[in-house]
Amino acid sequence: MQLIAGNWKMNGLLASIAELEALIASGPHPSAALLLCPPATLLASFAARARGTHVAIGAQDCHPEPCGAFTGDLSAPMLADAGATHVIVGHSERRIGHGETDALVRRKAEAALAAGLVPIVCIGETLEDREAGQTLAVLARQLQGSLPSSGAAIVAYEPVWAIGTGRTPNPDAIAAAHAAIADHLPGDTPILYGGSVSPANAPAILATPGVGGALVGGASLRAHDFLAIAGAAR
Ligand code: 13P
Repeated sequence: MQLIAGNWKMNGLLASIAELEALIASGPHPSAALLLCPPATLLASFAARARGTHVAIGAQDCHPEPCGAFTGDLSAPMLADAGATHVIVGHSERRIGHGETDALVRRKAEAALAAGLVPIVCIGETLEDREAGQTLAVLARQLQGSLPSSGAAIVAYEPVWAIGTGRTPNPDAIAAAHAAIADHLPGDTPILYGGSVSPANAPAILATPGVGGALVGGASLRAHDFLAIAGAAR
């Protein structure tokens, strides 16, 4: 069973619940577990609708503290209270756009675990890292710095240069990265691939050794495409 997770990023309004309805209507899939991470404004309503169905609902970020004077932030216990079961932490759009460090990502992942959420810890090299031959070194550094010290996490390998570009590493490069990542993790840790996953490339990506599922951005916004990707799961 592979995990097919959708990250809606800063997209989606109340009316977008029609996409969730379509995912629910599709029924459970024999080889794909579905997780949808809408923006926080939709979390509670989506989680209420999805309760008891085969679709899980997750959040896209959390603060490391459980409560306090942090205007605009959301804590892991709040996300759990809204019905989330998972939370993405350390996405490159937050590492780069919000200056998040490995140490902060680790604190967020640990806060998620403490609140009963499964953290999805994102790592990935930039194009500059890759061209300098530093991909595996960067991944190792991010894993060492941002994984929670104990507890079960999911890891998402998202090469920064593959996000939203239509470009992906070839299957050999994905397999090599996933094997290197797995060396740092307990054997049962799922490792998702993310970055320009589409209905067209999902069969090859999801058949790549070591790939435990996908973290899908743009193609998760429409249930039709997201379900086509889930249909390639194994
Ligand atoms: P795209 O699938 O749009 O490239 O986004 C990937 C991603 O960042 C998922 O977290």
